[in-house]
Amino acid sequence: MAAPKGHGSDSVIRATAGKIERIVAKVLKDVKPTENEIAETTAYSNDIMGRLARAAPKSIEIISAGSVARGTQVRGTSDIDIFLLFPKGTDRERMEKDGIAIGKKIVSRARNESYVIKYAEHPYVRLILGDSGTKADIVPAFKIKHHSERVTAVDRTQLHNVFVNSRLDLKQKDDVRVLKAFLRAHGIYGAEARTEGFSGYLCELLVAHYGSFVSVLKGATGMRLPFVVDVLGGAEHHGTSDAATAAVRKFDKDFIVIDPTDPNRNVAAVVSDESLARFVTVSKMFLKAPTASFFYGARYSTAYSERKVAKLRSALGLDIYVLQFKMPDIAEDILWQQISRLSVTLEDALRKNGFNSVVSLRNVSHGSAIISFFLSSSHVKYSIARGPSAFMGDSIEKFLSNHRRSLGTMFDGDRVLSLEQAAYETPVALLKHMMKRREIFPSYIDTRSSRLYVNSFPEDTAKMLYSAFVRKTTI
Ligand code: UTP
Ligand code: MN
Repeated sequence: MAAPKGHGSDSVIRATAGKIERIVAKVLKDVKPTENEIAETTAYSNDIMGRLARAAPKSIEIISAGSVARGTQVRGTSDIDIFLLFPKGTDRERMEKDGIAIGKKIVSRARNESYVIKYAEHPYVRLILGDSGTKADIVPAFKIKHHSERVTAVDRTQLHNVFVNSRLDLKQKDDVRVLKAFLRAHGIYGAEARTEGFSGYLCELLVAHYGSFVSVLKGATGMRLPFVVDVLGGAEHHGTSDAATAAVRKFDKDFIVIDPTDPNRNVAAVVSDESLARFVTVSKMFLKAPTASFFYGARYSTAYSERKVAKLRSALGLDIYVLQFKMPDIAEDILWQQISRLSVTLEDALRKNGFNSVVSLRNVSHGSAIISFFLSSSHVKYSIARGPSAFMGDSIEKFLSNHRRSLGTMFDGDRVLSLEQAAYETPVALLKHMMKRREIFPSYIDTRSSRLYVNSFPEDTAKMLYSAFVRKTTI
């Protein structure tokens, strides 16, 4: 007699589904703002909007936007986003200047408020409520009904509000919160340069497209690149299909989520390969063996980091090099981009000189930045110069005559290689030389403030190194 078809695995799937449901319900209890928090945020948001309405001319429309307005915010992160919508046709400079002026005007000492000017595509005012630390961004933009009227990047936000509110029901908004918590636990929530992960709006779109938190994860596990989510068209495109190919050409990316409010925008533009790979991997792991720990992040302590780093070093048998810089108080995105760029330049130079980095790390904290390389070789006498193919005209002869002092020349297939005396025999020699080349350093990095450490570090540096290591090497 044939066994009942698929019976065993069906019940396994059902049991897993039940378990996921229980975990999601538990996580939601932790990440959904309490009624109290929602009431307080709403009251504060209304209060600010009222004050703005009194301070601004009637022609400016004031709206609440972002996750607080849409009901997709995570507990304890209820930062308010308020937009001042100027009539189209207002001079752009006027809009920016007046926007800042109106924002500043409502800051109330009596309420223990302070403010800072923040910079996105254009400047805006961030109001900070001293008592609770609640932040409210007051962002000027143009009022538009359609993306074709857009002047600044943030003009889209009002369209996002309309889309999300029309497409997500309350259950799905809760699922957005759960998705944000899941991504945050794996260090990939947020579109900042430091994270290169999934923005809040991207989370909202993924839940709108797939229907639920679990369906988003299932979608991720089946993903093949290139992968295009057309939220408005309710379709996905992948592989070599015409639609996928056209989108890849248009956006120059292989993971694309087209903004339903603007077909020219890839909402996933900043998601790095690493962030996407991490998301796909942890989605697979969670669906196979669901536990609540997937939502609560790697637990580690940075106490005694100096000792932890020393242990790590002997376990790996690698030498650890750390460059540390003082950083000015500027927008973290710019800072982070500059650190990343410098790190890539240094890593390339190391590789070209025979030092391969096994693990490369960056971290920024309290006005200080580190770039670190874990290297296996600490001394090389030679370097290899790769020359042209023997079949490329007379360029091989030129190469040979330029490398007359070579220790030996040989072929790698049809290409010529020259073994040379290394210009820098140790990573320290090379890095010290690089530090003197002011032109490779991004504008905000002050090389005179830099320190180079090898294998032993002050505890503060070790803490930055250790936490970056854990984040980088934990899936
Ligand atoms: P936020 O960065 O505050 O995101 O931008 P969020 O959706 O409110 O998510 P959390 O909960 O705070 O993390 C507010 C809105 O501004 C628009 C999006 O519509 C977003 O929802 N926005 C923001 C953009 O269009 N582009 C950006 O680069 C940033
Ligand atoms: Mn927000």
